[in-house]
Amino acid sequence: MYSDTAQARIPTPTAPTAPSAPTWDPQQYLRHAGHRARPFLDMLTRIPELPTRPARIADLGCGPGNVTTLLTDRWPEARVTGFDLSPEMLHRATEEYAGPTAGGGSLDFRHGDLATWLPEEPYDLIVSNAALQWVPSHPGSFAAWINGLRPGGTFAFQIPANFTAPSHALLAELCDAPRWRARLAGHGARYIHLLEPAEYLARFTELGCAVDVWTTTYHQLLQGPDPVLDWVKGTALRPVLTALGDDRDAVDAFLTEYRDRLREAYPAGPRGTVFPFRRIFAVARKEA
Ligand SMILES: C[S@@+](CC[C@H](N)C(=O)[O-])C[C@H]1O[C@@H](n2cnc3c(N)ncnc32)[C@H](O)[C@@H]1O
Repeated sequence: MYSDTAQARIPTPTAPTAPSAPTWDPQQYLRHAGHRARPFLDMLTRIPELPTRPARIADLGCGPGNVTTLLTDRWPEARVTGFDLSPEMLHRATEEYAGPTAGGGSLDFRHGDLATWLPEEPYDLIVSNAALQWVPSHPGSFAAWINGLRPGGTFAFQIPANFTAPSHALLAELCDAPRWRARLAGHGARYIHLLEPAEYLARFTELGCAVDVWTTTYHQLLQGPDPVLDWVKGTALRPVLTALGDDRDAVDAFLTEYRDRLREAYPAGPRGTVFPFRRIFAVARKEA
């Protein structure tokens, strides 16, 4: 049985390689945009009023920008900047959403690496949705990010915490199987650097913040054939697809093996396929 909680039980690859930054595919990622945006909307409801108007907001790991725009619904006059590392994601976000907003604010997107990003001016809100799991060093940046907030400002993030679920454990297992190990060891288990919710809470209280940390498991009902495979093609499979590159035969063989395992783990029901997905949330408000 797979546990939904213990990150540490993810198999350790026998011959770890350092996966390079994955190539992102905004179109594939957006195929499940509704389910992916839901946690962000839930997080928004827990973010308190911001200290200044118009507010200055950063979205770290903004992806294709569809979630970043939700910030301008809540704070229409805000100046919002999304930062991301992926040229494909930044291109999509800029094409679709950059420019002045209806409420008199603005939205722009810039290249930024979260491993080194520092607030370049005071922010009222720094958010990050489903991105910090890609940045193992993220807890080490919390002090600098909180320091870059105005008094009374907020840092809020959400990260998937699903890496011992079959979707991700099977991927890690397959990458480490004899057939794939030489090319893929380590590509399916990149997420062991997450902290437990209580540890996130402790980090922010130590930094003098008022903190709200919680977890939610979304019982997502997905439609279509092999929908869990389709889901991970937009996220957890990116490092594998990037590593296999143009080797079509290898991509097809890997996806077939993985798909068969997923079908067993997530059988299709009469109304769709249930794909439970656990996520950690943290909302930290700096002292006013
Ligand atoms: C799963 S997507 C989330 C996108 C968006 N926040 C959303 O909620 O839809 C993860 C994003 O994090 C970005 N990312 C990963 N590592 C990063 C890094 N070191 N610096 C900046 N962005 C990074 C990826 O390029 C990708 O766009």
